[in-house]
Parts: sequence; C-alpha cells; structure tokens
Amino acid sequence: MQLAQRIKAIKPSPTLALNARAKALAAQGVDVAGFVAGEPDFDTPEFIKQAAIDSLKAGFTKYTPTAGIPELREAICAKLQRDNQLTYTPDQVLVSVGAKHSLYNIFQALLNEGDEVIILTPYWVSYPDMVLLAGGRPVFIETREENGFAPDPEAIRRALTPRTRAIVLNSPSNPSGAVFSRAALEGIAAAVKGHDCLIISDDIYEKLLYEGQFLNIANVAADLVPRLVVVNGMSKAYSMTGWRLGYAAGPKPLISAMQMIQDQSTSNPTSMVQKGALAALKGPTDFIATMVEEFRARRELIVSGLNALEGVKCRKPEGAFYVFPDVRGLLQRSYKGAPLGTSARISEILLDDFRVAVVPGAPFGAEGYLRLSFATSREVIQKGLGRLRDFVAALS
Ligand SMILES: Cc1ncc(COP(=O)(O)O)c(C=O)c1O
Repeated sequence: MQLAQRIKAIKPSPTLALNARAKALAAQGVDVAGFVAGEPDFDTPEFIKQAAIDSLKAGFTKYTPTAGIPELREAICAKLQRDNQLTYTPDQVLVSVGAKHSLYNIFQALLNEGDEVIILTPYWVSYPDMVLLAGGRPVFIETREENGFAPDPEAIRRALTPRTRAIVLNSPSNPSGAVFSRAALEGIAAAVKGHDCLIISDDIYEKLLYEGQFLNIANVAADLVPRLVVVNGMSKAYSMTGWRLGYAAGPKPLISAMQMIQDQSTSNPTSMVQKGALAALKGPTDFIATMVEEFRARRELIVSGLNALEGVKCRKPEGAFYVFPDVRGLLQRSYKGAPLGTSARISEILLDDFRVAVVPGAPFGAEGYLRLSFATSREVIQKGLGRLRDFVAALS
C-alpha cells in the first residue's frame, strides 16, 4: 500500500501504544500495575452525565455550528475571565474534539513547510509529531530538573529565528508535573518580546495543582495577549477524557482559519457532549478539590516510595498527575548480566518481568527518566512500588 509521504515523518504515540499493551496483558488475566494512563481514574460527575442524557432525550442530536454552540462558547469566555482573567469574545473561541484536536488545528492553520516551533523538553509526546504533520520543524530547548524544568530565557532568545512561528508552553506539564513560577513566565515573556511568534499555552492541567498558583503567561505579560492562543478542555479537570472536548481561544484570524479546517474535516464536536461540557463549566466544582486532594495523597506516596529506591531520584511535581523520576543512576547497572543502558530497556524489563507499566523518558525528549502516572489507586501504587523494589534488588 502506498501511503502519503507525511506519514513517514511521524511515529505512533508511545504512551497510547504502551497503554494498549498493558491493557491487553490485563485482559489476558495478567496482573499489571499500570502507571501509563493519562487520565483521571475518577468517573465523570453525575450532573454532567445527566445534562448530556437530558439533551439526547430532548432530541439534541443534530449538527451544531462547527465552532460549538453559542452558549458553550459564552461559558468558555466566562471561565477564561473568571479563572484566568483573560477577556475573550465567543467569536475568538473554537470548540474541538479534545484539546489535542485544538492543537492539531493550530499547527495546521499556522505552519508552512519548514516553519519552526519551539518546544521545551521534556514535552508531551504529541507536540513534535503534530508540528511535523503540518510540515513544520520542531526546535527543542532543553530544560533541567535543577531549574524546576523552567527554560533559560537566553536559550529561547538563541532559538528564535525568522522562521519561528510559535512556542509551546505547558504548565502544569506532562510529563514533568512542573508548574512555571511567575519569575519563569516573566523570563519567557521577556525572551519572546522582540519576536512576533505565537504563544501556544496548553493549560489542560490547570486545575490539578498541589502547590503555588496557576498562571497563564498573559497574567504576567498582558501585552502578549494579541499573539496568545490558550488551549484547554474538559478531559483532566472534569474527568471527561472519553467525551473528547477541548477548546482554543485566541486571535480572530487564527481561530477563523482553524474553524475552516474543522469545517472541512470533523465539523462540530458531538452535540450532546457540548451540553455536558456546558453543564460542567456552569456547575459546582467541589469534586475537583476532592480529586486534587486524593491525587495529593498519592503524590506523597509515590514520590517517597521512588526516592527510597537506590539509583532513583524523584522530584515532587507541583501539578498534573505524573512523576518523572530520574533513573540515570540505574542505567549503568545490569539485569541478567546485560547493562540496562536506556530508560526504554528499563520499561521493557519492568513490563515483561515485573508486571509494571511505565513510560520511558526518551519519547518525551528526556532520556534517563521514566514517567509514571499516579492517576491510579493507592493500592496499585503500593503494589507497583513493591515490584520496583524487587526490580532494583535484582540488578547487579
Ligand atoms: C499536555 C497535554 N495536552 C493536551 C492533551 C490532550 O487532551 P484532550 O483529551 O483534551 O485531547 C493531553 C492529554 O494527555 C496532554 O497531556
């Protein structure tokens, strides 16, 4: 079968692939301690489900405007004002099939062949491939754990070229869980000042915060608003990953171009899902606090368990539901006579011989690290930590 050239530029999502493998093992009755899932293990709150059910029963089953129903776009503007002090009008909002879809539309609308997009490492696995699919070129800037995974403004200045069209920011971050401080955001804002690139702020983990305060870069540099696009969605805060609903808010010409792409590809996000999202944005938020408290307890458990392993160092994440332990201290050690060498090898051995599913750091641009999601029960965390202890004990 002859396929398009662009397919050769991208690779399968490693997290989706690993999750599928861990789930297939579990389906065969293998007891896998899974730390791969990028979704809260809580159910969607009942009132949100009910709103979608009610809309279905009322026959709300037809096409809607591509950009989303007006009342949902208004509710998104109200949310952005209330939570983020950002002022947008409904015609600056495009509702899509998940934040992933919003990001895809942005890159498709923005990039010409060879245009550059700055991505900070470690990064969410989909950013580089989405840029490549749009014909763009990802330009990576390394950030370091010692600096809380905040970028060096000087490195951003050096990376900016006449071909730079955008920089992607993601705080709290997948995979590191790091949250940008005010000072870090001020540094980034100062670095991009002399350039007209777009700032893509992926705020999807905004509500999953354990320390400090959530800030969008526009909160420290209001002058960036005309070239800022905010991406957010229902998946993480409302435990609605399977519903597929995200949105982007930004400059009108960009949003209109993205809408045109959506007009000619998916059309509107599913009608009743939009009603569920509307209820979520207008309804009570106490369950978010309950979920965050549970995640906070699990964070303590997993961070202390990982730090107790010889050769493993785990920074405490300020947000999201991932830990990103540094396992470079294990790479020189051997398992069954062969040196481990890479984080990919560690994750392979863990799944095959110890029934623990974790994601290696390399696909996130950070070899020598592993990503573990703690969006799983304390029981699984305890079990997984026990198996990790067995793994470390088996090394020579
Ligand atoms: C950083 C980041 N951005 C965006 C998304 C996409 O979320 P959605 O489910 O809304 O497509 C994810 C999902 O894992 C993510 O981790």
